[in-house]
Amino acid sequence: MAKIGKLVVVGVGLIGGSFALAARRANAVARVVGVGRSRANVERARALGVIDAAAAADAVHGADLVFLAMPVGQTAAVLAEIAPHLGADTVVTDAGSTKSDVVAAARAALGAAFARFVPGHPIAGAEHSGVAAARADLFDGKRTVLTPLAETDAAAAARVHALWRACGAEVREMTPEAHDRVFAAVSHLPHVLAYALVHDIATRAGAQELFDYAASGFRDFTRIASSHPEMWRDICIANRAALIDELDRYGEVLREVRALLAAGDAAGARASVRRRARRAQPLARAAMTLAFAVQPGGALRGCVRVPGDKSISHRAIMLGSIARGTTRIGGFLEGEDALATMNVFRALGVAIDGPDRGRVTVHGVGMRGLRAPQQVLDCGNSGTSMRLITGLLAAQPFDAELDGDASLRRRPMRRIADPLALMGARIETATGGRPPLRIHGNPRLRAIDYALPVASAQVKSALLLAALYANGTTRVTEPAPTRDHTERMLAGFGYAVRREGATIELTGGGELRAADIEVPADISSAAFFMVGASIAEGSDVTLEHIGLNPTRAGVIEILRLMGADLAVANERAVGGEPVGDVRVRAARLTGIEIPERLVPLAIDEFPALFVAAACARGRTVLRGAAELRVKESDRIQVMADGLALLGVRAAPADDGIVIEGGAVGGGTVDAHGDHRIAMAFAMAGLVAGAPVTVRDCANVATSFPGFVALARTAGLRIAEACP
Ligand code: S3P
Repeated sequence: MAKIGKLVVVGVGLIGGSFALAARRANAVARVVGVGRSRANVERARALGVIDAAAAADAVHGADLVFLAMPVGQTAAVLAEIAPHLGADTVVTDAGSTKSDVVAAARAALGAAFARFVPGHPIAGAEHSGVAAARADLFDGKRTVLTPLAETDAAAAARVHALWRACGAEVREMTPEAHDRVFAAVSHLPHVLAYALVHDIATRAGAQELFDYAASGFRDFTRIASSHPEMWRDICIANRAALIDELDRYGEVLREVRALLAAGDAAGARASVRRRARRAQPLARAAMTLAFAVQPGGALRGCVRVPGDKSISHRAIMLGSIARGTTRIGGFLEGEDALATMNVFRALGVAIDGPDRGRVTVHGVGMRGLRAPQQVLDCGNSGTSMRLITGLLAAQPFDAELDGDASLRRRPMRRIADPLALMGARIETATGGRPPLRIHGNPRLRAIDYALPVASAQVKSALLLAALYANGTTRVTEPAPTRDHTERMLAGFGYAVRREGATIELTGGGELRAADIEVPADISSAAFFMVGASIAEGSDVTLEHIGLNPTRAGVIEILRLMGADLAVANERAVGGEPVGDVRVRAARLTGIEIPERLVPLAIDEFPALFVAAACARGRTVLRGAAELRVKESDRIQVMADGLALLGVRAAPADDGIVIEGGAVGGGTVDAHGDHRIAMAFAMAGLVAGAPVTVRDCANVATSFPGFVALARTAGLRIAEACP
């Protein structure tokens, strides 16, 4: 990073002072000049050695970088004061806690210099304020959000970005509006609530006595309410639009909880608050742009336990909910997809405790116990949630609406809507047969004989769930075997399911009995480590407690055909599913023609397998895999594009791809929000000729929370970064 000659800090308090100290620690600046309203404070900063010189506002003349760190309420006035003195190359950035108003003020005050204004917000604070509390390590490991605009000069943004990184911060980017929404929810609203609550109690008669009895929970409110009142007043005013939305939303929550409590429904009240909190999490995460930065080299070693199986976690919640009795689940995947399913069932009136370190308790309501939801059911990114739940809701005596994120809204739903219509349910879709879905349930469904046009476990499972309620015996015939977790788990819940060749048969009208379920580790998550360890020289990794259901284990067979060294040990059965440990050692891989019969048995593992193919000697050919085009992204195109960017020859076809193995280069690829593509390219970084950056990776949390930390422990040189 080029050294900054002159840095001017306007407002030398905790943040401004710490920034100056951190920049000096990184040897990123030659000279720091402090400017501030209080002359005495700036002099103090100089005396403490935080800045080299104290000056007036015109000191910004000749500065390479101006850092604004005063309260947001003063931004407009300060910008107007410094604007006439800014040089043609001076970059301006700020540390304000709100962004839309700061951007508006900068646009009004800076004229042409606005292109070199890079709005920022370091998420760091300390117990004490003021320059005396400034520390060079204040930003270490903390996040700084930058909100550059389309017109922001790229070089200016890159400079500010690099400086924050040098100061120890992890930099994220988002739009000013997204920033303000996120912080209204997680920072500004909590401050308003704390001030309001503490004020309300402090102004009652007998307040002193109330405070004497305040327990630790209330002390958290008093701690927040003792924050600088003027500063928070300014922040709240500056971000009032987003904050008012949050207050309205929170008011609704309080009203709902009050109503549930008044009705004596404590479980409903608890579920309601929890459900709303959970819905906010993915929103906050999605607003952040997350990328992976992978340094080449390294090997994967040691024992790794990846999180629980996603397919089984979904089904455990679904079947547990409609069973009679209490289902206890262990090893549950605490990823966003399975949590989406959990929240949908809470909205359908099921009490669910957890998750707590993989433990979940589902208080089943029985086959007829689901209740009409009060809101649209949000499936997030999860196709499994939407398709399977639609099957179940098709048979209910109420209507419901299911929706999801932008990726889910692009996925085909006629494949379930059409056969469910044959059974007597009516399902409305948006144009092109896509979500949102409006389900008009019919408690008197008819059994059908149905030959699946595509090999899809989701469609098969949706029909089997509807069939539980149908009048008669439903027969579903698969064109090729697909994962059979639904069949196995139904049997575990005491429901008879018969298989005759390619046909699965089930008679409606029975009952499910609660069962305890131990979820094995997800072979689809383990697949990234199988591929990483196979391609990176010196690797020797053992993947523990992996689900090895033959309808899921195609990845092992394909990798073995390519010459991989995989050894399965400790094979055992856990809750009706085969489980084992898989040891993977590096090997020389060779390109193959992937047998079509293995496609449905490895359907989620192709992004990882394409990376294996890119590192293999010779050509790998995949055919009969058109389904890959309608997953969380078009996995054929997105992988082909990414591989090409890394210098690998990859020719996409309608139903597959041809990959010429060879050297993998470095570069930046886009995961298009697809969790499995993000993790596949992260593994490619092990053997790349130069660093690999993978953009748009936040959705890794849908299936593999903790991926970065686990992969790093195993030896992948990966960090979360900003693209
Ligand atoms: C799944 C089935 C598969 C798979 C998905 C999970 C399931 O989808 O890709 O990740 O849990 O039933 P399709 O049925 O669309 O092939």
